[in-house]
Amino acid sequence: MTLIDHYAVFGSPIKHSKSPRIHKIFAEQTNQSIEYNAQEVCPEDFSSAVTTFFEHDGKGLNCTVPLKELAWTYADSKTGRAQTAKAVNTLIKQNDGSILGDNTDGIGLVTDLINNHNLNLAESRILILGAGGASRGIIGPLLEQSRHPIIIANRTIEKVVNLASEFLHENTIKGCGFDALKGQQFDLVINATSTSLTGQLPPLPNDLLAKNAVCYDLAYSNETTAFVRWGQQNKALKSLDGLGMLIEQAAEAFFIWRGIRPKTAPVIELLNRERNLA
Ligand code: ATR
Repeated sequence: MTLIDHYAVFGSPIKHSKSPRIHKIFAEQTNQSIEYNAQEVCPEDFSSAVTTFFEHDGKGLNCTVPLKELAWTYADSKTGRAQTAKAVNTLIKQNDGSILGDNTDGIGLVTDLINNHNLNLAESRILILGAGGASRGIIGPLLEQSRHPIIIANRTIEKVVNLASEFLHENTIKGCGFDALKGQQFDLVINATSTSLTGQLPPLPNDLLAKNAVCYDLAYSNETTAFVRWGQQNKALKSLDGLGMLIEQAAEAFFIWRGIRPKTAPVIELLNRERNLA
């Protein structure tokens, strides 16, 4: 009898999640016997659903919107990067039965930018748009890469100033409003606001992009997001959405759970091809 290890992603809404597909391909590629399902879980039911999952032999869990902060609270212990992010997207059942929380979002973004898009992050002037949970998850890993100060712009200035002050490297990170971006230029602009979900755009100056700049929307969608379109219209060298990050963060979670690193390039190519046909 083959024993199958159980994994899942919890979130709401979860119907269109690509994670089960991605992990199925990883498992086939690496010969791992796993099952990975998507389960609709609302915040009120989160704690009992996670407890039930692990009591029934679940080995690892991904948590997505709007459950990442709850997963952070639930975990018995946290990795350093999850601690900094104050959000957890990966739960791991350890040998002693306790639950470890990790955050693979930031490393997923950095891996996609460096390995798949050949970006030199050390030399890039980076701007992050937004000061919510999505920004918090990527700041630490980006700070580790960049030699320039990272600028975070947000609609609510108080929120961005507070976020920036939480990070140890205070001299290398600065929070401001969108107005303060006038006259500044960046090599990498990352949209971490929730505007893509509603088809809106933050108010951005037209001359924000340096020559050969890259735009990156953390959101992904079968349709071009408003921010990806803005990047194309403003002559970004590349204007990308978060599909690569999604696949890279999944690969990192798979590696933590299974101890084997799947190849991401063929999965990125496949899912991109499928969405171009959609
Ligand atoms: P998430 O966890 O996805 O980051 P969040 O914590 O609710 O979600 O944060 C949403 C982010 O998108 C915030 O930075 C928010 O700006 P405010 O802090 O000023 O609310 C930003 N945002 C949402 N709608 C926006 C809009 N229309 N224009 C600019 N920023 C917007």
